[in-house]
Amino acid sequence: MERVKLIELLNDMSLEEKIGQLMQLSSNFYEDEAVLTGPAMEFGIGENEIDQAGSTLSIFDPETIKKIQQKAIEKQPHHIPLLFMADIINGYKTIFPIPLAQGCTFQPELAKECAVVSAKEASAGGLHVTFSPMVDLVRDARWGRVMESTGEDKYLNSLFAKAIVEGYQGKQLKDKGSIAACVKHFAAYGAPTAGKEYNNVELSMRSLREDYLPAYQSAIDAGSAMVMTSFNTLDRIPATGNKWLMQDILRNEMGFNGVLISDWAAIEELISQGVAEDKEEAARLAINAGVDIDMATNIYIKHLAGLIQKGTISESQIDKAVLRILTLKNDLGLFENPYKDLNPEEYSRYNLCSSHRELARKAAADSMVLLKNEGILPLKKSGLRIALVGPYTEELHLYGAWSLLGEDKDTVSLRVGMECAGSENKLYCIKGVNLIPDQEFLYGFKGLVTERNPVTSDSFEEAVKAASEADLVIIALGEHAYHSGEGGSKADLRLPKQQRELFEAVSRVNRNCISIIFSGRPLDLRDISEGSKALLQAWFPGSEGGNAIADLLYGKVQPSARLAMTFPYCTGQVPVHYDHFNTGRPFNGDHKNRFQSKYLDIPNEPLYPFGYGLGYTEFGYSEVRLSDTLMKKQDTVTASVVVKNMGEHAGTETVQLYLQDQKASVVRPIRELKGFQRVYLEPGESVEIMFEINEEMLRFYNHNMEYTSEQGAFTIFIGENATTNNQAECYLQLD
Ligand code: GLC
Repeated sequence: MERVKLIELLNDMSLEEKIGQLMQLSSNFYEDEAVLTGPAMEFGIGENEIDQAGSTLSIFDPETIKKIQQKAIEKQPHHIPLLFMADIINGYKTIFPIPLAQGCTFQPELAKECAVVSAKEASAGGLHVTFSPMVDLVRDARWGRVMESTGEDKYLNSLFAKAIVEGYQGKQLKDKGSIAACVKHFAAYGAPTAGKEYNNVELSMRSLREDYLPAYQSAIDAGSAMVMTSFNTLDRIPATGNKWLMQDILRNEMGFNGVLISDWAAIEELISQGVAEDKEEAARLAINAGVDIDMATNIYIKHLAGLIQKGTISESQIDKAVLRILTLKNDLGLFENPYKDLNPEEYSRYNLCSSHRELARKAAADSMVLLKNEGILPLKKSGLRIALVGPYTEELHLYGAWSLLGEDKDTVSLRVGMECAGSENKLYCIKGVNLIPDQEFLYGFKGLVTERNPVTSDSFEEAVKAASEADLVIIALGEHAYHSGEGGSKADLRLPKQQRELFEAVSRVNRNCISIIFSGRPLDLRDISEGSKALLQAWFPGSEGGNAIADLLYGKVQPSARLAMTFPYCTGQVPVHYDHFNTGRPFNGDHKNRFQSKYLDIPNEPLYPFGYGLGYTEFGYSEVRLSDTLMKKQDTVTASVVVKNMGEHAGTETVQLYLQDQKASVVRPIRELKGFQRVYLEPGESVEIMFEINEEMLRFYNHNMEYTSEQGAFTIFIGENATTNNQAECYLQLD
């Protein structure tokens, strides 16, 4: 419908209808009997208000969606259709690796392909919007939601944010297979104090702008139809009631003109955060901040009309919000076709089809980071006696906490993957210990999580015995999927005690240990790394996890992933990130000098740095060559290296470019990722890799908070990860 018609529609709507559009009801309001008991009673609303709602979330069954939409357009006075939204974070029915794993692929285009498939399956199921991508920059592995981010680097996160939005939204929202993206959580939710969920965020304005905002900007520039507010405070003002953040920054400075939705009940939480006296004040703060949709509370529906009557807010504020929502529905083509792509036949044909599974398998293999390999991988295909032990031996929950439609029955376990790939080898599978620590009560998103196939009392000994009789041991360890995700903060990053004990016992009887770690976050893997000959970080790989791991262990696929988030030496080291700052007393390695920036009990270096990862071959780098050592403002300088495959296997290297501003009007990071190129090389093959460097790459917020560059020397690093010292110096001349 043309915009003029939308405006006519808006002008014809009653105030009650308009406010209804700003209310998003959760799925339980659409279950039978909801009106008479339960949620509707609590909300103090009846059938009529429910019929006025503008959107709903977390309804997945296509037939149910169709029925609800039919009723909505019939009952709504202007037959305005509902928006159906949900968390499609890393796949719909075909489950892909968690976003943090996708970040480790260093392949935004691959994440885009996964988003395209996710949107295709979700739209056939009747969904219109996904609450994704989550682009919060993360540096603290204690926070459970690091699994939803693509990592600690603003440049990498910005590339993924753009790619994923484009994957979901396609060329235009009304196209078949497109769904609207909703970038989240605005802003800086990734930096909760002490890594504790929902905690406040204390950031300098410079850090906010320089490190945390770029990825949201990238998603907005890519056309993200929606933005979601974050639970946290910024400068001690909750984001959801923060007019400066949502109007001055998000709308006016970053140019976002789409729909702004609160996070779940975040408007009501303004009360417990202590900035709203009651629901009425919470409504006023949120609508004045420009929050269009109230997710999952009755605050807007119950208080906006009264605020208008009192003259506290104006109806034109409501009109702006409603028009943005009507525009989104129009962009999706819902006025012409309220069911969009809903199609039960295609829904069952698309979900988990072979091409989608192939993509999931590739993405999983390309996301797993080989952290150590002392010549034990890749495995021979025959003649081996392999003991496969640990709680993940046959575990089927290999999908992350936000895989709401992921199912065990659709997932390939490690055991099945290994049996299919290496049938000539003998595999002895014993779980040994439970995945959930015996004394722990773990609650997931839908209640208490129970151990699947609990071990028998002799399983531990059996596992150790099998290991002692095998040529090598694959030990599959990790945290449960619900040890990360929302509400999954942890104060200790080590593996559960019983798993560490199993590892200790097994690695004592057989030194040929290949450890595979399933987790949603970097864990403290010091002891595991020490006692293993090979160490593979598998994350939560999704539907094809077992096949992907087998592809890597048998060398059908070369490991090529690189860490998108630093692995700390131990919990005490977090938050830790590669682009940290020099201090006045940088540690020079000499512990005798007490008065330096270091710890008494651990090293400054992380266990594994950002950008790190191994393949089955080694790559050699020439020194960095520059086309010039002087760069004027309008110039570009070409920095190049020759990379050579020095080993016997083919492989893919991710050549990384970092820049360091040596001196500026503010303290600058010791280096920042500014580019990378993945290159596949056969044994003995070499190639010249070139990066174009320009003045824009050197811009930052100076002491006056102006985004600009400053004249002076800078260092160019090109190498295999964030610790490379392969460098050259250049000078930026501005005058
Ligand atoms: C949750 C999460 C948010 C999610 C929303 C809807 O609380 O913070 O990421 O999209 O609610 O499920």
